[in-house]
Amino acid sequence: MCGIVGYVGKENAVPYLLDGLSRLEYRGYDSAGIAVLTDKGIETEKCTGRVAALRDKAEKHNFSCNLGIGHTRWATHGEVSERNAHPHVSYKGDFAVVHNGIIENYATLRDKLKDEGYAFLSDTDSEVVAHLLERDYNGDLISSLMNTVKKLEGAFALGIICKNLSDTLILIRKESPLVVGKGKDGFYAASDMGALCGVAEESITMNDGEIAVITKEKATFYLSDGNEVFRRFEKSNLCASSAEKGDFPHFMLKEIFEQPSATEHTYRFLSSSGTSSTEELSFLPSLLQTTDRIYIVGCGSAYHTAVAGKYVFEKLTKLPTEAVIASEFCTSSIPVRKNSLCIFVSQSGETADTLSALKKAKEKGATILSVVNVPESSIARKSHKVIYTKAGPEIAVATTKAYSAQLITLYTLAAFSGYYLGVINDGDFRYYMRELSCLPKKIKNILERENEIAEFGKLLSSESSIRFIGRNTDYAAAMEGALKMKEISYIPCEAYPAGELKHGTISLVEKGSITVALCCNDSIFKKTANNIEEIRSRGGDIILITTEKHTEDVTVINRKIIIPDTDDLFVTLLEAIPLQLLAYYTAKEKGCDIDKPRNLAKSVTVE
Ligand code: F6R
Repeated sequence: MCGIVGYVGKENAVPYLLDGLSRLEYRGYDSAGIAVLTDKGIETEKCTGRVAALRDKAEKHNFSCNLGIGHTRWATHGEVSERNAHPHVSYKGDFAVVHNGIIENYATLRDKLKDEGYAFLSDTDSEVVAHLLERDYNGDLISSLMNTVKKLEGAFALGIICKNLSDTLILIRKESPLVVGKGKDGFYAASDMGALCGVAEESITMNDGEIAVITKEKATFYLSDGNEVFRRFEKSNLCASSAEKGDFPHFMLKEIFEQPSATEHTYRFLSSSGTSSTEELSFLPSLLQTTDRIYIVGCGSAYHTAVAGKYVFEKLTKLPTEAVIASEFCTSSIPVRKNSLCIFVSQSGETADTLSALKKAKEKGATILSVVNVPESSIARKSHKVIYTKAGPEIAVATTKAYSAQLITLYTLAAFSGYYLGVINDGDFRYYMRELSCLPKKIKNILERENEIAEFGKLLSSESSIRFIGRNTDYAAAMEGALKMKEISYIPCEAYPAGELKHGTISLVEKGSITVALCCNDSIFKKTANNIEEIRSRGGDIILITTEKHTEDVTVINRKIIIPDTDDLFVTLLEAIPLQLLAYYTAKEKGCDIDKPRNLAKSVTVE
């Protein structure tokens, strides 16, 4: 989704702006632009498509400038075009602005400004900010900025430069993230830590409502009431290597192969030595004393981890547990109360739908526990308790390693919760922990069979639609398998609980139509096996994913992927690995843009 960068310092701003935008490419975007302050005033360059094209255009100008802002846009208001790409410049050319988020009252503001004679060049909600900044400027920067901010409704992060403030970068944060970095030759700004990789040695994550006024020499922070506030730069732990593909052709494949370590680090971080005392979860016993119901909330793949987690929490804690799609949570009357524990799952920690649901749950007095991959993200900061998954930065838009780290986190959390609640005894607890500790190795084992799975992927690339079926924890995996396949290969896919097929969907089965059947949950193996036979007897083709223990039961099925055995509760995690590889190799065969699928964004910061 949209990304912001900014620079003020001793060096030319353009290389950082362009490199920073390249590092934000993974978030998903459709156009990009920069604005710099030169001796001619504010100059801009924009283009639709990739940052590489912007680089070609910008390099021709040979801009000489020490101050600038840049943006990658993911269209929300107005078509994908240069005209709508950021930065937007004010009427007289005094201000340029880049914006993330949505100005909800932009239409009213635009009408007012139009009445006053301001001409608009774009269809965006963001352009009103540029004109307002110019109109409200009274010579006193902070009071002028406050005047503008007061008029804006919605969530936003703004990067601003002003023609008359030759070495001043201005940043404003309301709900949408912004980070300020300090390097050897100046200050950097970005909507995402990733853009600061390799340039900033120290950083500050701006708080909601803060304004930062940054010159070559110093960064000054103000609260929303205009009072200055002291902020200390902290050493950044930014590692450029996570932004490199290494020997892998795509980030997605690299991240698929990072899953043994992502799950291992996450599990070890949470479970310490595998004993029943863990520092990271020491808050659990007292929290559980008052919990009578659990909601697990997320979007997309994070929601799928919630579905898988629901089965595990229900069995191990005996507490009623519901998995809820965050955007639905916001619009329904779910009976969240003081004694509800709401677990919000998010890789980015910035997903607007999840943030909105979190706010709603908080208002209702629920305890908020989040499972987040990005430290200092908005969801982490707004939660009562946070568990960080240890997947490391995830670059490919389609999540893989963050998804599996979320799963192992929910599993571990459920096992500890069940034990603390007295639902599972010491022996059972040790059994579940042992099973969990073996999962990273089993993932590695599946990855060793990449070539075999790749062949199935190639086969699927010519399909016009694919069904994914499973029951219970297998169904949670089917949902994720279908999403992964459709988002990167663009093949329409649907996931069904296997038992539901005969209630309607089986009418789609015809000779040669393809179903990926998940059949790893031992307790329901026979039932799903019956559903598979119902498909086969109607001429439908099957790719079966099952476990070693069932090898002998499935000899009649030619196309199958056999994965290691584990407890029924945890099969979803192991099933994800062949499903991710299937999606990857199908998309690769089709020549799709795997790391940056069309229309998608890594961090979805609009509702
Ligand atoms: C799918 C995918 C998305 C995200 C969803 C939530 O591969 O990546 O479905 O899972 O947009 O994002 P986060 O986890 O950042 O809240």
